[in-house]
Amino acid sequence: MPVLLGRGPEVARIERALADARLGVSSALVLRGEPGIGKTALLRHAAAEAGSMRILSAKGVEFEADIPFAGLHDLLHPALGMVDRLPPVGARALRAVLGLGERVESDRLVIGAATLGLLTAWAETPLLVLLDDAQWLDRASAETIAFAARRLLADPIALVVAIREGEPSPLLEAGLEEARVGGLDPASAAELLQSAAPARLRVEVVRRIMDATGGNPLALVEMASEAHRFEAAAGYAPLPVPISTTVERAYLRRAVAVSAAGRSVLLLVAASGTAGVELVRRAAAAAGLPQSAVEEAEAATGLLALRGRSLEFVHPLAAAAVYHAASPAERRAVHRALATVMSDLESADRRAWHLAAAADGPDEQVAAELEAAAGRARARTGHAAAAAGFEEAARLSADPGLRSRRLFAAAASAWLAGQAERAVVLLAEARSGVKDEWLQIEIEALAGDIALSQGAVEEGYRLVQSAAARLVGRDRLRAIQLLAYATLTGFGAGRLADMLATARRALDLVRPDDPPAAGIAAHTAYGCAAVMAALGDAGPRHLRAAEELFRGTELAGDPLLMVCAGVVGLFLREAEAGRDLLERAHAAARADAPAAALPQVLYYLGRDLATTERWAAARAHYEEGARLARETSQNNWLTGLLAALTQIDTLEGRSSELHAHAVEVEALADRHQMELFRAWMVAARALHELAGGRAAVALEQLLRLRAIHVELGIHDPDIDPAPDLAEVNVRLGNHDVAAVEAQAFLEAARIKGQPFALARAERALGLVALDGEFAAHFEAALAHLARTRDTFETARTNLSYGERLRRARRRGEARRHLAVALEVFDRLGATPWSQRALAELGAGGEVPGRRDESVRHRLTPQEVQIALALAQGQTTREAAAKLFLSPKTVEYHLRNVYDKLEIHSREELRAIMGGPAE
Ligand SMILES: Nc1ncnc2c1ncn2[C@@H]1O[C@H](COP(=O)(O)OP(=O)(O)OP(=O)(O)O)[C@@H](O)[C@H]1O
Ligand SMILES: [Mg+2]
Repeated sequence: MPVLLGRGPEVARIERALADARLGVSSALVLRGEPGIGKTALLRHAAAEAGSMRILSAKGVEFEADIPFAGLHDLLHPALGMVDRLPPVGARALRAVLGLGERVESDRLVIGAATLGLLTAWAETPLLVLLDDAQWLDRASAETIAFAARRLLADPIALVVAIREGEPSPLLEAGLEEARVGGLDPASAAELLQSAAPARLRVEVVRRIMDATGGNPLALVEMASEAHRFEAAAGYAPLPVPISTTVERAYLRRAVAVSAAGRSVLLLVAASGTAGVELVRRAAAAAGLPQSAVEEAEAATGLLALRGRSLEFVHPLAAAAVYHAASPAERRAVHRALATVMSDLESADRRAWHLAAAADGPDEQVAAELEAAAGRARARTGHAAAAAGFEEAARLSADPGLRSRRLFAAAASAWLAGQAERAVVLLAEARSGVKDEWLQIEIEALAGDIALSQGAVEEGYRLVQSAAARLVGRDRLRAIQLLAYATLTGFGAGRLADMLATARRALDLVRPDDPPAAGIAAHTAYGCAAVMAALGDAGPRHLRAAEELFRGTELAGDPLLMVCAGVVGLFLREAEAGRDLLERAHAAARADAPAAALPQVLYYLGRDLATTERWAAARAHYEEGARLARETSQNNWLTGLLAALTQIDTLEGRSSELHAHAVEVEALADRHQMELFRAWMVAARALHELAGGRAAVALEQLLRLRAIHVELGIHDPDIDPAPDLAEVNVRLGNHDVAAVEAQAFLEAARIKGQPFALARAERALGLVALDGEFAAHFEAALAHLARTRDTFETARTNLSYGERLRRARRRGEARRHLAVALEVFDRLGATPWSQRALAELGAGGEVPGRRDESVRHRLTPQEVQIALALAQGQTTREAAAKLFLSPKTVEYHLRNVYDKLEIHSREELRAIMGGPAE
C-alpha cells in the first residue's frame, strides 16, 4: 500500500475509533469529500491499522444500485454462519432478503434489527466495518446499515463510511459523526506530486499543479505524469472544471493508446459492476473480442488492476470516464454481451438490468424479465430497487396495458420506499390511457392513500370512496379495508365529516357472516370518528362491538388489525379488555410488523400511559415511535407522535424541547395538512404559557386552538379550551368574558354528561364565581374527578381552589388544597405547576419541605424503556431484541439506570419501576 501522506486529524479520528472499539465502545464516522480526495486511501489505512480486529467491508458500485441488498450481502458474507444465533424471525428475514433461504415477507425494521444482531454477534472480537463508495450502495442496504449504525453504542464496533460529496444517501441522514476530507496540506501535496512525477519538477510547476488541483491527491498523481503540459507554457492555466472532469480526461488520454478491441474490453469491465474476471473474459468472447484484447486492456493501460477474483478499474473515475466516453451503441453491445453470459439463476436480477441497458427500444421479453426482477426486489422489501425495475420495465413495454400495469407497480413501490413525489408522477403516467377496470380502481385507491398522507386530504377521501364503490361488486372485503384504513390514515387531518362518511360506508358494507377482520376494521374506524365528533354513545358502542370481535381473532399478519387493536384498546382503556388489547397490539406490532404498525401502536400506548400519569414511560414510547416513523418515512404518524411529545414537554415544563417539537409539528402540519395534530401542539403551547403565568400569550394560543377546532368541526368538550379561556380571562381582568366562557361550557359538559367534562366546567365556574360561591363549584369539581383517574386535573383543581381560598383569606383551607396540589405535581414531575403551587404557598407565608424530585425524571427515555422491560421480567437478550438494540447496549443503559437509581439488583428495579407511579 502506498504511504499515506498528511491527514493528521483524520488519522487521529480513525485511531480513536479503533481504540474505542477495542475498549467496547462503538463509533461511526462518515468521511465525505470530492472524487479522488483520498477517502478510499483513509479506509485502507484504517484496515491496515486494525491489527487483530475483525473486518467486514463492502462498497457501492455505480451500476448496481438497483440490486436490493447486494451491498448488505457483501458486507455480512463472512458472518453469515452466525445467522442462526439470531431470534428466528430475524434470521428468517435476513436469509430471505440476502437470497439465502426461503422467501418470506419481511419487515424493514426486522431486517434492520437482524443486521444489528448479526454485526454485534460477529463483534465477539472487536470489529471494523468499512463501507466505501456508500453513495452507490443500493438503497435497501444503505437504509438497513443506517438503522443498525444509529443503534450502536456499547459494542466493540467501529464503522467508517466513505461517501462522495453532494450525493444523497440514507447514511447521511442517520446523524452519524461526519468528517469532511479536503485537499492535502501543501507539503504532503508537493511530496506526493514529486514521487509520482517521472522526473523532479521545478518549484514553479509544482505550484501551478497545486493551484490547479487544490491538493486533490488523485488529480496530483494524474497531473504529475503530464507535468510537461504545465512546464511548456508558463501561462497555462487549466480551465476551472471539476476535478472529476480533469481526472477523467487524464484517464481517457491513456485509453486512447489502446486498440479499438482493447477499448471495448475496458468498456465491458466498466459496465460489468462487480462481475468477476471470469465473467468478463466470457463476455468478451461472446462479444467476439479476441483474448489478446483482454490481455492488452489488463496489462497495457494502467487503468485496470486485478483485485482478488475481480478485474477493477484503478479508480471509479476511470470506469466512469470510459463508460461515458463510449457511444450509446457501444454501451448497448457490451451490456448485451454481459447478459448473454449471465445465465444462471443467481444473476437473474443483474442479467435483467443488463438486458434493459442493451435494449434500444421497447422489448417485451426484456420488460418481462425486468418486471420479474422487480417483483423479487419487492418481495424482499427492496422497494426503491423494485420501483426502478418496474419503471424501466414500463419504459420497455410496447403494449399500453402492460405499460400502465408496470407504472402502477412502480408507483406503489416508490410509495413504500418513501418516495412520495415520484409515486405521484408515476401514478399520473399510469392513469393515462388505462382501460382495465381493476387497474383503474387500484390506481385510484393508491392515489387516495397518498393524497391522505401527503396533504390533499379532501381529495384523498374522495378517491378512496370512489375506488371502494367500484370495488364493492368485485371484492367487498377489500373495499371495507380500504375505507377503514383511509379513515384512520386521515386521522391527523381531523376532518370529522369526511372521516365519518368514509367509515359509515365501511360499516354499511359489513355483513354478519364476514370474517371478524372486516367488522373490526369498520367498527373501529367509525367508533373512533364518532368519539371525536362527540356523537353521543355511538362511538363507545362501535368500539365495544370491535372489541367483542377481537376475542379469539389472531392479530398476526395483519397490520391494520394491530392498529385497530391499539385504537380500541386506548378508547376502552378503563376496562380490562382495553388493556389486554393494547398489550396484544404492542406485542404483535413489535414482533410481526414493526415498520407497518409500530409507530401508530406506540402512539396509542403512550396516550394510555400519559393519561395514567406515567409520563416518563409515555415519553419513551413516543420517542421510539417518532424515531421509527422517521426511519420509515411515515410523516403523518411522525407528526402525531411529535405533537404528543409537546404535551408531555408542557406538563414537565421542558421549554426547549417543547419549542423544538412544536416547530417541527408546525412545519409538518403545513406540508401535510394535519390540522388535528397541529391543534394538539397549539394546546400544549397554550398550557405552557398558562402554567408560566403568561396570560396574554396563552390567550392568543387558546384562541388559535379554538379557531382550528371550529374549522374542523370538533365539539368534544374534553378538548375544548373553554375552561382555560375562562382562567386566562380572569387573570387578564376580563371577568365578563370569563363568565360567558364558563357558562357556555357548562351547557356542553352537561350534554356530554361525563365526570371529566363536568369537573372542568365546575372548575371554570369556581374561577368566575363570587367570593361567597366559589367553594361549592370547586367541591363539585373534586367530587366529579373522584370518579376519574385523572390526578393531574385533580391537582389543577386543588391549585385553583387554593388560590381562590387564599385570596378570600381562608388561609388554613387554602394551605391544605395547595399542599395536596403540590404533592401531586411533585410526584408527577409537573415542574411549572409545582412552582405555581409553591409560589402560592410562599405567598401564604409557608414553604413546606419538598420531596426530592422523583428519580424517574432523571432517566432518559431509552433508560426508562429498558428499565420497564427488565422490571417486567424480560432477560437482557429479550429486551434487546424487542427494542432493536444489542444486548451490550441494553446492559450499558441498565448500568446507568442502576447508578442513577442507586440500586444493585433486578428486585430493587422491579420494586421501583413496577410500582403504581411508574
Ligand atoms: N494521503 C494520501 N497520501 C498519498 N496518496 C494518497 C493520499 N490520499 C489519496 N491518495 C491517492 O490518491 C488517489 C485517490 O484517492 P482515493 O481513491 O482514496 O480517493 P477517493 O476519495 O476514494 O475518491 P472517490 O470518491 O472517487 O472514490 C489514490 O491513488 C490514492 O492512493
Ligand atoms: Mg474511493
